[in-house]
Amino acid sequence: MKFLPSVHLPCHPWMAMVILPLLLLLVPLAAAQWSSCSKSDDYKSNSTYVANLSLLSSTLPKKAASSTTLFATSIMGNFPDIVYALTLCRGDSNASACESRVTTAFQDLLRLCPYKKNAAVYYDPCMLKFSNKNFLATTTVNDPLFIVNTKNFTTNADITQRLLFTLINSMAQLAANSLRRFTTSRLDVGSSPTLYCLMQCMPDLIPHDCESCFQDILNSTLEYLGGKQGGRVLGTRCYMRYEMYPFFQGDPKLRIINLAPHVPTINNTTTPATVYPQSQPPDAAPPPEGKVTVQEHNGPTTRWNGDCC
Ligand SMILES: *[C@@H]1O[C@H](CO)[C@@H](O)[C@H](O)[C@H]1NC(C)=O
Ligand SMILES: *[C@@H]1O[C@H](CO)[C@@H](O)[C@H](O)[C@H]1NC(C)=O
Ligand SMILES: *[C@@H]1O[C@H](CO)[C@@H](O)[C@H](O)[C@H]1NC(C)=O
Ligand SMILES: *[C@@H]1O[C@H](CO)[C@@H](O)[C@H](O)[C@H]1NC(C)=O
Ligand SMILES: *[C@@H]1O[C@H](CO)[C@@H](O)[C@H](O)[C@H]1NC(C)=O
Ligand SMILES: *[C@@H]1O[C@H](CO)[C@@H](O)[C@H](O)[C@H]1NC(C)=O
Ligand SMILES: *[C@@H]1O[C@H](CO)[C@@H](O)[C@H](O)[C@H]1NC(C)=O
Repeated sequence: MKFLPSVHLPCHPWMAMVILPLLLLLVPLAAAQWSSCSKSDDYKSNSTYVANLSLLSSTLPKKAASSTTLFATSIMGNFPDIVYALTLCRGDSNASACESRVTTAFQDLLRLCPYKKNAAVYYDPCMLKFSNKNFLATTTVNDPLFIVNTKNFTTNADITQRLLFTLINSMAQLAANSLRRFTTSRLDVGSSPTLYCLMQCMPDLIPHDCESCFQDILNSTLEYLGGKQGGRVLGTRCYMRYEMYPFFQGDPKLRIINLAPHVPTINNTTTPATVYPQSQPPDAAPPPEGKVTVQEHNGPTTRWNGDCC
């Protein structure tokens, strides 16, 4: 499938004036988090694995914060106690916030996935994953989690899929070719709802692999998020989020004013989904590895706010 050329128009200056007061009004809320843990592959509390993991937790946050892309990978120890780790802070974050957030992410992950050798955690501002398997070499989306706002658009059902397709299709190239593999947009077309979207790849992906990663999530995004007022696809290599309200810092980098003329036929049979209500993910049984996970959240309860990175 080919990505269509994107519509690239400057944003109106008034948008900054409208968005900024909105952001200041947001009340800080408990940080939303979603995690996934391996079922098998346990380590012992006194093992070399945990020693290497602990070394990683003291070095990776600084390494990410000192990178211009707020991204870091690391490999610690030797087989069979080798640990691979990857962390990324969102493209609109900054170094100091990133370092403290990734430090907390390590602590959270040890609590959320006790004694698990493979674990990942996602927050609005950053993600962290470690494993005893070398996932750093892969370029695909890798066991994405789907976070679904259960509210439907009230708009014409025919265009709900086109809205999502238009977002991913218009933004993939721009994100893939930017230094941080990151972009944001605002979509305003006709009478359909205004949408805000953020897409980012791991900055170590070459542009081509970044675009492929977004193509990989396209089918399941249309299948699981089509018609929904908001959602996130959280993957190890790339992710996207869209909402009906602004949730990122700064003006949208892209303004989209035309809908894609049609949505390609999608293949729904690729990956089964598991659905979790939002209040349960940290307590619920971890999803089976290699499956797509759909989790629910009700309404815009987890907004970007200035207190977090
Ligand atoms: C870890 O502790 C267990 C029991 O407490 C012991 O059997 C094992 O030998 C210890 N392993 C190491 C590497 O110290
Ligand atoms: C991994 O942990 C072991 C046990 O503490 C330590 O001997 C080893 O040096 C660590 N590996 C690295 C690369 O630091
Ligand atoms: C949203 O739409 C889906 C599919 O049409 C439907 O099954 C679901 O009940 C709707 N949800 C709400 C909250 O209206
Ligand atoms: C795929 O799933 C979506 C949403 O459930 C549905 O609207 C669409 O018709 C399905 N497509 C096919 C080819 O089954
Ligand atoms: C998406 O669906 C199309 C059409 O069925 C299919 O050719 C393609 O392989 C699917 N992509 C993925 C990543 O599943
Ligand atoms: C849908 O995906 C399945 C599994 O990836 C594949 O076997 C099948 O050929 C695909 N169908 C279409 C129409 O692309
Ligand atoms: C970094 O981001 C945090 C959270 O958004 C903010 O509180 C802080 O002032 C920022 N620091 C700098 C140096 O911009």
